Amino acid sequence: ATNRTFTMIKPDAVEAGYTGAIIKMIEEAGFRIVSMSKTQLTPERAGQFYAVHSQRPFYNDLCAYMSSGAIVPMVLEKENAVADFRKLIGATNPAQAEEGTIRKLFAKSLEANAIHGSDSDENAQIEGSFFFSGTEQF
Ligand code: CMP
Repeated sequence: ATNRTFTMIKPDAVEAGYTGAIIKMIEEAGFRIVSMSKTQLTPERAGQFYAVHSQRPFYNDLCAYMSSGAIVPMVLEKENAVADFRKLIGATNPAQAEEGTIRKLFAKSLEANAIHGSDSDENAQIEGSFFFSGTEQF
C-alpha cells in the first residue's frame, strides 16, 4: 500500500552542500515529497527527537551533533515507503552501507551519517508530526 515515511538530511550533509543531490535521489527513487522544511534543532529538541536512545552511550554526542547546524526534515510518500527508504539510504554505519546508497555516497561517519529514515510506520507518524502539522502535509 502507499504510505509515508519521515526523513531528515543531517547537519553534515546540509553543510557539505548535498541537499539537492540527496533530494534528487529521493525523487528519482519514486518518493513524493509531502512536507519539507529547513530548520535547526536546539540540543533539547534533538534530545526529545532521539529520546528512545537516551540510555545509549552515544546520546549526548548525537544531540550535540544534530543541533550543530541546519537539517532538512521531510515527510515522503510511496508504495512500501518505510522499507524502501531504508534500502535507499543504506546501513546506519556508512562503512557497511551498500554501493549506491545515500549513506555510502554522502555520509562521513557512523554519527554524521547524512540522513535519517524512520524504522516503522508508527515511528514515521510520530517523527513526521514532531516537525509538521497536518495542514503542512500535501
Ligand atoms: P539514526 O539511525 O538516524 O538514529 C540514531 C543515530 O545515532 C544514528 O542515525 C547515528 O547518527 C547516531 N549514532 C552514533 N553512534 C551510533 C551507534 N554506535 N549506533 C547507532 N547509531 C549511532
